Amino acid sequence: MACQRGALIVLEGVDRAGKTTQCKMLVQALQKSGRPAEAMRFPDRTTTIGQLISAYLEKKSELEDHTVHLLFSANRWELVPTMKKKLEQGITLVVDRYAFSGAAFTSAKPGFSLEWCMKPDVGLPKPDLVMFLQLSPAEAALRGQFGVERYETRVFQNAVQQKFELLMKDSSVNWQVQDGLGCRVSPFIVSFKARRKN
Ligand code: TMP
Ligand code: MG
Repeated sequence: MACQRGALIVLEGVDRAGKTTQCKMLVQALQKSGRPAEAMRFPDRTTTIGQLISAYLEKKSELEDHTVHLLFSANRWELVPTMKKKLEQGITLVVDRYAFSGAAFTSAKPGFSLEWCMKPDVGLPKPDLVMFLQLSPAEAALRGQFGVERYETRVFQNAVQQKFELLMKDSSVNWQVQDGLGCRVSPFIVSFKARRKN
């Protein structure tokens, strides 16, 4: 029996915007509506590459900035065969961060152009929808645990937010901005269904 390809849905935003919670809720809502769905996240800290990234984020190790950027990208590429397989099986993937985080976070560091940062991810499966959870970095900083990992400073998150705003100007990407304060899952599904092409 021919089965419809699953959708690739990405959630992006600054740290503590609520992406992880929204991903879980969205997967549950999709499953409830009878659509096979699974959550994924990047970085995926379970792989060998992911463990290197995790130690860096937890400030247990130091990595040169280009190197860690390429590791984040490699961590996506190593999961591409799995992603493609699942999508072909009709499973919708709800992904917590993707290449947009890669570009926004590294280009927020001095000396990195957005253009250079985007290059290693060229050719990754293209998302059908990218939800951007909008939350001011000041609001995000009030949420639990902020400041534990590398990048979790208000100054850096402000810079990241600005880079995301540049990325959202790309009209070839199906961006949808959602208020990260008190957002609900149902509008996601409505818009996702409305814009779904296959
Ligand atoms: P997490 O908190 O969602 O696990 O993400 C870990 C951190 O890594 C977060 O601060 C965003 C950052 N990041 C990058 O710098 N580059 C990337 O490619 C990704 C996916 C995340
Ligand atoms: Mg985090």
